[in-house]
Amino acid sequence: MSDKKVIVKAVAKEAAPAAKAAPKKPLYQPKGDVLISVKNLDKTFKETIHAVRNVTTDIHKGEVVVLIGPSGSGKSTFLRCLNLLEVPTGGSITMDGEDIMDKNADLNKHRQKVGMVFQHFNLFDNLNVIQNMTIAPVKLKGESEAAASQRAMNLLDRVGLADRAEAYPSQLSGGQKQRIAIVRALCMQPEVILFDEPTSALDPEMVGEVLDVMKQLAAEGMTMVVVTHEMGFAREVADRVLFMADGALIEEGTPEEIFDNPKSDRLKDFLSKIL
Ligand SMILES: Nc1ncnc2c1ncn2[C@@H]1O[C@H](COP(=O)(O)OP(=O)(O)O)[C@@H](O)[C@H]1O
Ligand SMILES: [Mg+2]
Repeated sequence: MSDKKVIVKAVAKEAAPAAKAAPKKPLYQPKGDVLISVKNLDKTFKETIHAVRNVTTDIHKGEVVVLIGPSGSGKSTFLRCLNLLEVPTGGSITMDGEDIMDKNADLNKHRQKVGMVFQHFNLFDNLNVIQNMTIAPVKLKGESEAAASQRAMNLLDRVGLADRAEAYPSQLSGGQKQRIAIVRALCMQPEVILFDEPTSALDPEMVGEVLDVMKQLAAEGMTMVVVTHEMGFAREVADRVLFMADGALIEEGTPEEIFDNPKSDRLKDFLSKIL
């Protein structure tokens, strides 16, 4: 038995009567060290549209963070700031302790560490599956075709799409395209993957196969930040749920805290509309 367990057992014995009287909900436990630290993040468009307002949060290694909120609340903009697809207008973002907004920061290197999966797949239609997956590792990281192809084939095999390696995107279903987009991101061996409504463009019968791949990834310890309307997924897989409205981070907590015990009126109102 580990020291920790011994201590827990000893404490539990002593505190048993009180614990029985007032069962405590488990509080959120960060999984690992901080990977991305976001402080007072701000993004305005054309100086008047305040898309992200003063958002502060940490993403830990191995953590699955689900971002929810009404349309136009700044979820996509927040996500896109994390890999600098949008340049923040205020605040700071550090990854692995490095200030990614510093003008001397290596943008390309940062983007290689942050995978992104979009609602509309964004595959190259003129490239087949294996070419879609290997182009970035070969062109951006200087990997050999052979090494990149080998990893791509292994990944395809893991999501049951090895037989589609030579297919072109037009020959794939939406669910297959999105699974390819996920393994394409993985092919770069990122430290975190950002998902922006990855199932919103899919026919309902294909949502499950994409969520299954995401669940598998989460179980394997991938750090993930996921914007989604799939509340079942959020409940089951999220370590932490963030609720945004009007660009601000209004509330965050475990799925139980957010869905079963919302505190703010904004969140209560949002949940009453979607659940
Ligand atoms: N490139 C842009 N130019 C101007 N306004 C934008 C741009 N991108 C997003 N916005 C605005 O920023 C706000 C937040 O948008 P977005 O981040 O897409 O929200 P969500 O993903 O939660 O629907 C909205 O008012 C949207 O119209
Ligand atoms: Mg969006």
